[in-house]
Amino acid sequence: MTSIFDTVELNNGVRMPIFGLGTSGNKDQTVCDDTIKAAVEAGYRLIDTAQMYGNEKQVGKAIQQGDLSVKNLFITSKVDNPNHGYEAASKAIDDSLEKLGLDYIDLYLIHWPVVEGRGENWQEDNVETWRAMEEAYESGKVKAIGVSNFMVEHLENLIANCRIKPMVNQIRLHPGVLQEETVVFCETENIVVEAWSPLSPLKQMSEDEKVKAMTEKYGKSIAQLLLRFSLQHNFIPLTKSSHPKRVVENADIFDFEISDEDMVYLNNLKFDEFEAPDVDKER
Ligand SMILES: NC(=O)c1ccc[n+]([C@@H]2O[C@H](COP(=O)([O-])OP(=O)(O)OC[C@H]3O[C@@H](n4cnc5c(N)ncnc54)[C@H](OP(=O)(O)O)[C@@H]3O)[C@@H](O)[C@H]2O)c1
Repeated sequence: MTSIFDTVELNNGVRMPIFGLGTSGNKDQTVCDDTIKAAVEAGYRLIDTAQMYGNEKQVGKAIQQGDLSVKNLFITSKVDNPNHGYEAASKAIDDSLEKLGLDYIDLYLIHWPVVEGRGENWQEDNVETWRAMEEAYESGKVKAIGVSNFMVEHLENLIANCRIKPMVNQIRLHPGVLQEETVVFCETENIVVEAWSPLSPLKQMSEDEKVKAMTEKYGKSIAQLLLRFSLQHNFIPLTKSSHPKRVVENADIFDFEISDEDMVYLNNLKFDEFEAPDVDKER
């Protein structure tokens, strides 16, 4: 049985926790303090933020509070879309370090592959942005580098034209959105996959009789089933709540296993509301 303290080895040898706390939407300092404290006490070690969320300062403060030992945490942030390009991305990394109050960031990602005003030249744009990431990695400002929302063509472009292969790809993943082609490509290339918004179909699944039966069979909530589903796919789920109680509930998924038959059922769920994001649309 896996544990919340388990880690996975990235392709550069760095070890990353297999379960993480998301923070998007949490800008209020008290909410950040309370949820991050509850998370660390419950065993979360990975905390995911981004320039885009406007909360690096608050997250930075929250991880330095009391006796939370920042050294044991694995902090991720991401370069915001307007900060693409070598110069801007280099500055962005320094800016994230300063806001977070850290000497280094464990993992830094390119948030989005095709950005406003640079869509026609996304290949060159990503290579230039990645050059800043490689430099930050080599200077020790970041311990690992990766991407987010990259599909196969975006990954192939970096692999063909850059020196260092991404270590992580953070994409939307949950029942109804499984992005098989990208996931298989990442597995083949030894790129670890993180799952964002793993709880998306909470409401839809609460109306499904078979899912309701699963919650009774396993004695777990739908949120817990969804996070366990993600783990059993070998994704690293990132889950967010503004409520410490839910943060704790969401981590209580290391004492049960969804059966193969139930995994097949969850794998085949389809929802009209959800699809993989159109990442080729400039953002
Ligand atoms: N790379 C990207 O482009 C990208 C995009 C989206 C997200 N992300 C990252 O991935 C993280 C997770 O995605 P997400 O924020 O969409 O999170 P999520 O964990 O999939 O869903 C969060 C939502 O579920 C609710 N919730 C949480 N726990 C619950 C529970 N036990 N029971 C019922 N409802 C519950 C939350 O409400 P309350 O807060 O009210 O509890 C919130 O509305 C983000 O925070 C961010 O770090 C990355």
